[in-house]
Amino acid sequence: MSDERLTSPGDPIDHRAYWDRVARTKQFTHPLDEVLLEAHLSRKSRILDFGCGYGRTVKQLLGSGYTDVQGYDTSKELVARGAREHGLSLVHIDAPSELLVPDASVDCVLLFAVLTCIPSNTEQRALLDILRAKLKPNGLLYISDYYLQRGGPEAHRYHTLDGDPMNHGVFHLDEGVTFRHHMREWIAELLQGLTILSERSIEVLTMNGHAAEAFQVLARK
Ligand SMILES: C[S@@+](CC[C@H](N)C(=O)[O-])C[C@H]1O[C@@H](n2cnc3c(N)ncnc32)[C@H](O)[C@@H]1O
Repeated sequence: MSDERLTSPGDPIDHRAYWDRVARTKQFTHPLDEVLLEAHLSRKSRILDFGCGYGRTVKQLLGSGYTDVQGYDTSKELVARGAREHGLSLVHIDAPSELLVPDASVDCVLLFAVLTCIPSNTEQRALLDILRAKLKPNGLLYISDYYLQRGGPEAHRYHTLDGDPMNHGVFHLDEGVTFRHHMREWIAELLQGLTILSERSIEVLTMNGHAAEAFQVLARK
C-alpha cells in the first residue's frame, strides 16, 4: 500500500463500519488481571470499560461480584452481540465525547485493545483527556495494548502517520482497517502525570489468531 493512505488519521465512521462488519466473528482475548485489581478496588468500585466490544471483560467482572461496571462502545453491532450472547446492557456511543458520565466519578477505567484501533496520536490524546477527567482523584487507568512488535506479520508494514515520528507503528490490514502498535516513548508521554503502579508484558493471541506481545499498565491519577 502507499504511504499516502496513511497520511490522515482515518475516518472514524469507516472505523465503526469495520467493527460492525466483523462484530459477529471476532474473539477478543487480552486477559484481565483480577488479582491486580483486587489490590486497589472494592466490589462496589465504579468501573468504566471503554471500547468494551461485546462485553467480555464486563461479564467477567460482574461474574466476580463487581456491582458497578458499565461498558461503552462505538460499534452498535458489538453492543448488540453483548446483549444477545451475554444478556448485557452495554451502551452504544458514536464518539468518546458522548460519554455521559460525570467527571471525577469513576474508580477505574479499562482500556483493553482500544488504543490499537486509534491510529492517530492526536485522537489518542483526546480520548485519554476525556477518560482521565472521568476518573476520581486516585482513580485507576488499566490499559492493555501493543508496543511495536519485534517480529510478526505487522512489523515490516509499520508506517509513520502525519510525519510525526512518535506516531510510528501504523499498519493497514487487507480486511479493510488501519491499526497501530506503539513506541514505548509515546505511551510514556500519553500517561504523563499519572503514577504507574504496575507494568508487565504478556503473550496474547490477536483477534486474528497471531501470537503477539502485549503490555498491561495500571496507572493512578
Ligand atoms: C479489539 S476490540 C477490544 C474489545 C474489548 N475491550 C475486549 O478486550 O474484549 C476493540 C474495541 O474498541 C472499539 N473502538 C475502536 N475505536 C474506538 C473509539 N474511537 N472509541 C470507542 N471504542 C472504539 C471497537 O468497537 C472494539 O469494540
